[in-house]
Amino acid sequence: MKKFARIIGTGSYLPPKIVTNFDLEKTLDTTDDWIKARTGIKERRIVTSENTCDLALEASINALSMSELKPQDIDLIILSTTTPDKIFPATATILQQRLGASCPAFDVQAVCAGFVFALNTAQQYIENGSAKNILVIGSETMSKIVDWNDRSTAILFADGAGAVVLSDDKDTGIKHSKIYSDGNYLSSLHVNNNRINELGTIKMEGNEVFKIAVNKLSELAEETLKECNMTSDDIDWLVPHQANIRILSAVAKRINLSMDKVILTLDRHGNTSAASIPLALDEGVRDGRIKEGDNLLFEGIGGGFSWGSVLAEF
Ligand code: UT7
Repeated sequence: MKKFARIIGTGSYLPPKIVTNFDLEKTLDTTDDWIKARTGIKERRIVTSENTCDLALEASINALSMSELKPQDIDLIILSTTTPDKIFPATATILQQRLGASCPAFDVQAVCAGFVFALNTAQQYIENGSAKNILVIGSETMSKIVDWNDRSTAILFADGAGAVVLSDDKDTGIKHSKIYSDGNYLSSLHVNNNRINELGTIKMEGNEVFKIAVNKLSELAEETLKECNMTSDDIDWLVPHQANIRILSAVAKRINLSMDKVILTLDRHGNTSAASIPLALDEGVRDGRIKEGDNLLFEGIGGGFSWGSVLAEF
């Protein structure tokens, strides 16, 4: 009998420190008006002393609480991050210990597409029957790999975590998912270290990334809808990776979806990479916009490039 991976709990966590565009005006040659107009971002959260696992822990506790499951009930932990606490062990393993779980745990790294890649992976384990309950997290401290003197990236990236608990369900859940990578684009968006023990910071050809993001995300949304025999009218909520409001508006327009059906957190969260989709999802669920039975489309693209989508009934 077919099993679906269904979201039964969501949670998120943001570090308390707020950095507004006006704060950035003090250290960078930029303005609140420019940042708002070109990106849609007004403020973002930045860690002070917290690590990626600290944020992931809080988001996981919140998701587990909604799911009414205990850490011991979880069969697998998959954590998507670009900013792990250590080179090893996996941040997921550190999280497993801190949660008091005893299941296998590993990290997935696909930058801003990381959460979609992690959901796609979790889906396989549930559908083939090797796991019943899976905790999937997107957690990032992007502020640690930002060049705070580079105005083209320092204004964008931010910190936070979101998590979901997936459980097997005989009726519904993830209906479709697709992931892609193309390493030819490395130089467009990457961290510029040459060796693993060398520190680097994010380098981005913003304009190029922008155009590719609009094209890839629009094509992928169209492909996903076609393969699900759906139209954009069947989508209740687009829960996208939050990179730039102009990218999201362009994609929504291309697939004929009203912006009223897009969950937006970009203005307050900035670009939290792998955390942005589960952060937006948790906000939509907790404020009551996302309801049981809604069709959700998750989409993200990030460095590499890697990109992907998940279509799920909530
Ligand atoms: O999450 C992973 C994927 N990442 C993305 O999706 C990011 C995609 N890219 C973007 O969001 C946009 O390209 C940016 C927000 C990064 C930049 O916006 P843009 O409209 O593409 O600006 P631009 O790079 O074409 O730069 C336009 C001008 C330039 O000045 P000149 O050469 O015209 O004099 C930049 O130097 O804006 C300047 N500029 C800034 N001005 C004020 C660049 N950054 C800033 C800034 N404040 N922070």
